[in-house]
Amino acid sequence: MGKRRPLVAGNWKMNGSRSESAALLDGIKKGVSSASKAEVAVCPPYIFISLAAKKLSGSAVAWGGQNLSVHKSGAYTGEISGAMLKDYGCTYVIVGHSERRTLYGENDALVAEKYGAAQAAGLIPILCIGETLHERESGQTETVVARQLDAVLDKHGVGSFRSAVMAYEPVWAIGTGKTATPAQAQEVHRFIRHRMEAQDKTVAESLRILYGGSMKGSNARELLAQADIDGGLIGGASLQAEEFLTICRAAD
Ligand code: 13P
Repeated sequence: MGKRRPLVAGNWKMNGSRSESAALLDGIKKGVSSASKAEVAVCPPYIFISLAAKKLSGSAVAWGGQNLSVHKSGAYTGEISGAMLKDYGCTYVIVGHSERRTLYGENDALVAEKYGAAQAAGLIPILCIGETLHERESGQTETVVARQLDAVLDKHGVGSFRSAVMAYEPVWAIGTGKTATPAQAQEVHRFIRHRMEAQDKTVAESLRILYGGSMKGSNARELLAQADIDGGLIGGASLQAEEFLTICRAAD
């Protein structure tokens, strides 16, 4: 971390009741001051976004969605558009999370479309990329990460990353308690930044690349100390205010 403002974002995934969400939002809001160096955001399930908007507006905590439709509006039962998220004050939206890619068949082309739809709606996409265990063990980490990144770069150009955030989430580290070592994570973060640098040095230097995958209070500090890790995308550990706030403080 250095010149870039760190971002710690909680991805709640499909968790929590209305009352639990309210309590979590209150707890996080109380622990984050506008003076903190790190930026903090939460991405609750769609149905709790209006609650987040109500609780967090005027606070130092931003909020966002976990997914969006590629379409603007129309007959797409069950879908939510970028404009709807924007209308509820979302700053961010997660795009291409590995769970969307593997469980819901989102391929690189669709993820690139969603990235564009997010920006068209005035949202900042948090673009997730990362390799599976099999891909890592067969030495394909860089090939996979490059392919996922290039799908978006080729379609939207390097300039689009001026208003985007990236998240490197090794699939084998998500929800497994198995965190990438700081050196393993840094190596891939460096690789991503280098690839951007080849196209635009300024964009590469200002781009925030978050790490995600079993990040928690006890390992955040050493991950965040790496030169190219600019924050975290937190799953499980974002569901408890104190644990999440410990990570936010480590990023400060
Ligand atoms: P965990 O922190 O639960 O491993 O999840 C990471 C993640 O997928 C964040 O998007």
